[in-house]
Amino acid sequence: MSEAITEPAVEAAVEAALAAISAAGDAASLKAARAAHAAEGSPLARFNAAIRDLPGDQKAAAGKLVGTARARVTQAFAAQEERVLAAEEAARLEAEAVDVTEVPSRWRAGARHPLTMLMERMSDLFIGMGWEIGEGPELEHEWFNFDALNFDEDHPARALQDTFFVDPVERHLVLRTHTSPVQIRSLLSRELPVYVAAVGRVYRTDELDATHTPVFNQIEGLAIDRGLTMAHLRGTLEHMARTLFGSEAQIRLRPNYFPFTEPSAEMDVWHPRAKGGPRWIEWGGCGMVNPNVLRSAGIDPDEYQGFAFGMGIERTLQFRNELNDMHDMVEGDVRFSQQFGMVV
Ligand code: PHE
Repeated sequence: MSEAITEPAVEAAVEAALAAISAAGDAASLKAARAAHAAEGSPLARFNAAIRDLPGDQKAAAGKLVGTARARVTQAFAAQEERVLAAEEAARLEAEAVDVTEVPSRWRAGARHPLTMLMERMSDLFIGMGWEIGEGPELEHEWFNFDALNFDEDHPARALQDTFFVDPVERHLVLRTHTSPVQIRSLLSRELPVYVAAVGRVYRTDELDATHTPVFNQIEGLAIDRGLTMAHLRGTLEHMARTLFGSEAQIRLRPNYFPFTEPSAEMDVWHPRAKGGPRWIEWGGCGMVNPNVLRSAGIDPDEYQGFAFGMGIERTLQFRNELNDMHDMVEGDVRFSQQFGMVV
């Protein structure tokens, strides 16, 4: 049996509800108050349900009494809910506040990668001699990467380089295997004489290990002028070696073969400060530009001659800074950059 619907009983239920509502300081206790004082089973809900059982002449008065009481409670819930939400929002904003005017304890400057710095250093060296910087695409046409550089259609030299061929084959595109195609692009786009250095990414189907990466960078040099000889090549390489490795650095050339140079040479550098004492280190390839290459670019080889060279930048950084593992260069760990004296 439910309690009789009397004014004091209803008022007591309302008072209890209002007390619980005003004591509810957060969403959870407000929810608990709603369950106890407004939801099914609460005193007010029971009074409301009991109206049904009253004699007909008492229903209207009781309905009005209970209805007014429930409306007061509902209104109190809504008002308190608004206050609680506003308070919670304010607390959250307070907790998440950031003082944008605060001075950080240490200035965190960005760090430039040691490879980037070496590439710029090497480019600067040529700019200092009055050379220009050349560029070409990494997705290159086979004609520039091979044909114009005097690689025969089915010459085994084409297979010497582990090439990434790009679908569809009919388009004859490759990821350039060296920066030498920039030689052709430079000759086709510039007036003679040409003195150009080009730095950029090249691709070969090598696995990543301590001394190889399938993507690496090369620097290419090309000089075409009247009367250039191997002595000019040697002098240029020596200047480069001394700038990068110190005044005692030397260059040694050993006969080699490249389709795009004749004669061709492998170049070693005498590294005076190498780990474990001074020694010769294999550095790159070079030679006098093959007359066929000049012809590919529409240049008369009887009038103009020149030299070209190319070397790997990762490899240069590796022996210049005594790095054992190429992984460190490609992984992007800031501690690697910090070793080069940089604040990160
Ligand atoms: N392109 C050659 C290589 O990647 C290097 C080279 C450049 C050799 C220029 C001679 C002249 O191995």
